Amino acid sequence: MPSKPVKVDAKKREKFLVDLTSFMQSKGFVWGPFPEIYGGVAGFYSYGPLGKLLKEKVEKIVKRTFQSNGFWEVECPIVLPDVVWKASGHLDTFSDRTIKCSKCKSVFRADKLIEESHDVSADAYSDVELLDFINKNKINCPSCKGGLEQEINEQSLMMKTKVAGVESSLRPETATVTYIPFKRYYEFFRRRLPLGVFQIGKAFRNEISPRQNVLRSREFTQAEGQMFIDPSEKNNWERYDEVKKDKLPIWDYKSQKSESKHSMLSVADCFKKKFFRSKAYSWCVWLAYQQFLNLGVPEERIRIRQHHPDEKAFYADDAWDIEVKLNSFGWTEVCGIHDRTDYDLLQHSKFSKQNLTAKDANNKDITPHVLEIAFGIDRPVFALLDIFYSKIGKEDGKTMFKLPYHLAPVDVAIFPLMKKEGMPEKAKEVKKVLEDELIVEYDQSGSIGKRYLRAAESGTAYCVTVDHDTLKDNTVTLRDRDSEKQKRVAIDELNVTIRSLISGKLNFEKL
Ligand code: GLY
Repeated sequence: MPSKPVKVDAKKREKFLVDLTSFMQSKGFVWGPFPEIYGGVAGFYSYGPLGKLLKEKVEKIVKRTFQSNGFWEVECPIVLPDVVWKASGHLDTFSDRTIKCSKCKSVFRADKLIEESHDVSADAYSDVELLDFINKNKINCPSCKGGLEQEINEQSLMMKTKVAGVESSLRPETATVTYIPFKRYYEFFRRRLPLGVFQIGKAFRNEISPRQNVLRSREFTQAEGQMFIDPSEKNNWERYDEVKKDKLPIWDYKSQKSESKHSMLSVADCFKKKFFRSKAYSWCVWLAYQQFLNLGVPEERIRIRQHHPDEKAFYADDAWDIEVKLNSFGWTEVCGIHDRTDYDLLQHSKFSKQNLTAKDANNKDITPHVLEIAFGIDRPVFALLDIFYSKIGKEDGKTMFKLPYHLAPVDVAIFPLMKKEGMPEKAKEVKKVLEDELIVEYDQSGSIGKRYLRAAESGTAYCVTVDHDTLKDNTVTLRDRDSEKQKRVAIDELNVTIRSLISGKLNFEKL
């Protein structure tokens, strides 16, 4: 535990979160808690039209990053009989520690209560340390400001149901479900290791009083990559050499006691210092980091934090988290990279009485190890909203949403300058030219200035205006969101121009 925990400016964060939440709701990104008209249940949200488009773009990038690095996508069921969760360990050990308000009796997750008001990571604190911290720093109930009880309890996170009379649970992670078909993968991949699969899909956790929007939902979308590997080959990982010079923002657990900041270290240095125990695991950490760079999260907002030995999940050997610095919640975990060893396959083999082994190079039976890159889709979506939303000017200043262009929910908005002289018809023709390959919005209501403003607030990358000249020479005005500059472009070249701009192959200034 750090001797002097830094108290955060909770008021500033709260104010930002209130503004951000109102922006997300009014612009149709995230609504909830759901079902709103019935009062809402904490931890359930819906994505509105712009939120769904943004989430889809995030998923697309995550998929592409996994696929281009050798992982294949699978899709497995969400509800499984409890024997699976007994085997995985979730039924008995997947829980969080709670503390109750002595006045209003609300229940909170003890470590999160600390992290919300102090810049520390309380995951690894013992029960005594949690109470000690809460008492020393006079943390009260966030709902009624009453004192907290002097007792830490455990609450299971599993969501229970029954299927055909059999006790079952909704999956709390996609990982376990991804391990079950191992024998099928092994055949599909022609009995060769390593093999990589990933799954993007819903998972459910009965979180304790979640109050962090889609960062901590009870129903959420995970994206988890799993690499099955022969344990004796973990240091014979060719792809390590391709990335070993790349730098990572590393914060190992020993430095966390004395240093308040991470440092940039090469993948090779991390391996040499034994921060990462194998070359294959080092590569997985590198790949997880690439996911966030590919999503456009600024480098200076990312750090990779080692788990304290007491903090590791029950299945993990090597364990590091990627954290992103948010305006609303400070450093926030967005991804876990775990060496799960042979834990899962051995457990499922024991409980299912099936052979889940593979052959090594000497034709000997081995149980593969699993290296996992576990993250969600909702957290990066929230992070992008948090990082790229801002207000310029005083209280009711201009709303800006400067997402990286490749993530803009709407790629291009099309406006007829006026609702007459054939401009709407022409603008709809332009829309048709673009909409096969781009997300296009048509808007003809209000002044052109208001339409530009609305598009900028939604993060729309480009606007196209059809005006008098368009009717004469088949060119349109193309307006860039961030510079607000405009260029004249021929309709014939519009599709390829916008796609090249969005992918970064073309610079707007050079048009
Ligand atoms: N599969 C690991 C996790 O859900 O965090």
